[in-house]
Amino acid sequence: MRNFGGETSTLRVLRFSEEELLARATLGNMNWPGPRFTLEQIEQIPAIAHYFTRWPGKDDFGLVAEDPDGKAVGVVWLRYFDPTDPGYGFVAESIPELCVWVAEGQRGRGLGTRLIAGILEQARSQALPAISLSVEAGNPARSVYERLGFVPAGPYFDEGTLLLRL
Ligand SMILES: CC(C)(COP(=O)(O)OP(=O)(O)OC[C@H]1O[C@@H](n2cnc3c(N)ncnc32)[C@H](O)[C@@H]1OP(=O)(O)O)[C@@H](O)C(=O)NCCC(=O)NCCS
Repeated sequence: MRNFGGETSTLRVLRFSEEELLARATLGNMNWPGPRFTLEQIEQIPAIAHYFTRWPGKDDFGLVAEDPDGKAVGVVWLRYFDPTDPGYGFVAESIPELCVWVAEGQRGRGLGTRLIAGILEQARSQALPAISLSVEAGNPARSVYERLGFVPAGPYFDEGTLLLRL
């Protein structure tokens, strides 16, 4: 049966103990065009490693998509950075950065959209002002973000920095 909308997956809260899942997801995101990095490499690059190490920071949170066997097949998370250690999509200290990843073989069925929509709902319920993210030129993920309302953060930011005001 075709799994439209990734609907056989269940969304649940990302746990404090799931740093390893975030490392795997960050590796998948960094390798979106094909193999570029190993896990060992991204652990050694602070500008990449800070997306998953010491999870969670004070106000960070996320959601996991689990298949019927309880296997994590996708994750979305919000991470706060500060100007001394900014993420690639950093806009402001009060605006967390969104990262999302869906396992190969599960992509293109709506799961990423569901995960992002889920975290936006939570962000709105917590009255967050906005969410930013960074997407590299040529990554088809950009169309998912734009469909959900993300727009370029503005003239002072890199072209790949997108912002959604909530
Ligand atoms: C980007 C990603 C999270 C989207 O999740 P998804 O479940 O595949 O997305 P959805 O099914 O909800 O939406 C489909 C859209 O995703 C885009 N997409 C991005 N990468 C895709 C992939 N590998 N396979 C299928 N669709 C992909 C498609 O272009 C499609 O947009 P379109 O309908 O305008 O063509 C997921 O594809 C992924 O993890 N990709 C690899 C890592 C990555 O690029 N992460 C984002 C870094 S900024």
